[in-house]
Amino acid sequence: MNQIIFVAFFLQICFAFDFNKYNALDKIEKYLAIFNRNQGTVKSKVEIIGKTFEERSIYMVKMFTKRKTRCGSCKGKSKKAILVDGGMHARDFISHAFVLYFLNFLKTTQAGFYLVKKFDWYLIPVLNPDGYEYANNFERLWRKNRNPFNETCIGTDLNRNYGMQWDPENGGSRNPCNEFYSGPFRFSELESQAERKLMLKKAFIGYLSIQSFGQLWIYPWGFTKDPVPDKSTLDKCAKAAAAAATTRHGVVYNSRQTSERSTLGGLSSDYAKAAGIRFPYEVLLRDKGTFGHLLPEDQIIATCEETTDAVIAWVNCVCAEMM
Ligand SMILES: *[C@@H]1O[C@H](CO)[C@@H](O)[C@H](O)[C@H]1NC(C)=O
Repeated sequence: MNQIIFVAFFLQICFAFDFNKYNALDKIEKYLAIFNRNQGTVKSKVEIIGKTFEERSIYMVKMFTKRKTRCGSCKGKSKKAILVDGGMHARDFISHAFVLYFLNFLKTTQAGFYLVKKFDWYLIPVLNPDGYEYANNFERLWRKNRNPFNETCIGTDLNRNYGMQWDPENGGSRNPCNEFYSGPFRFSELESQAERKLMLKKAFIGYLSIQSFGQLWIYPWGFTKDPVPDKSTLDKCAKAAAAAATTRHGVVYNSRQTSERSTLGGLSSDYAKAAGIRFPYEVLLRDKGTFGHLLPEDQIIATCEETTDAVIAWVNCVCAEMM
């Protein structure tokens, strides 16, 4: 325990990374570098999974244990992996903040160690670094990436650009000036391409796309109102997650199929499902619209705490359902 406290202390003091803040990209990248050291009980490694239009690196942190332990009581199965991304939409500042908090949680706490014993974790804190930098410096509510297919109107909505039922007419747009521009064709974007490559390379069991806002765990399909064949299983784990999140601070989270209100084509979670990832979700963090994307910094830690509880409950559900 002393060792854990020391590591937590070390990470926070020596690198002055403030989890109570929305940190700028350069601060985040400096913080990520410390995970590229194979020390401690939980091992970690930083990889670059792709470059953006503005030639920024898309970083991924891999968390694993030295010994190949298995998921809970899932006997006879090899260790599976979970993919988590943050910042698909530039303005979802709480989503980057959560993935960074969760990285630290996995690396420095006993509860985090148990999660890494169950699964390997692949975490992308900032999937859309060009967008995040732009939102931070110029236009706080910027959503898309910064790829200029159209000279006057820049950027594609990454979460309409994935290749499962990509369809600008289904909740996206063909207009580059639109916030939901689907891109000129499926997987036209470097960021969605990078994540697709990862999804296809590694047999992930789970995928969490951390976004905001809405206090909601949602699962495929999004492109159609039809249910996925294992809808009841996906629903069960979403409910478990939402209940755990709600318990922490009394802030209510809900769950449902993505398309319950309206259908959307080209979603990353739909693509993940089609690519064979059994448990894919979009996790919409606080709040429900009071501040929306401008969630105050004094709500960061509480949001991260309840979401961590949700992920733990979700992992336990996934583990049980895998058997
Ligand atoms: C950019 O898109 C807008 C909206 O579709 C269109 O009116 C305009 O002509 C486009 N500009 C270029 C340079 O393609």
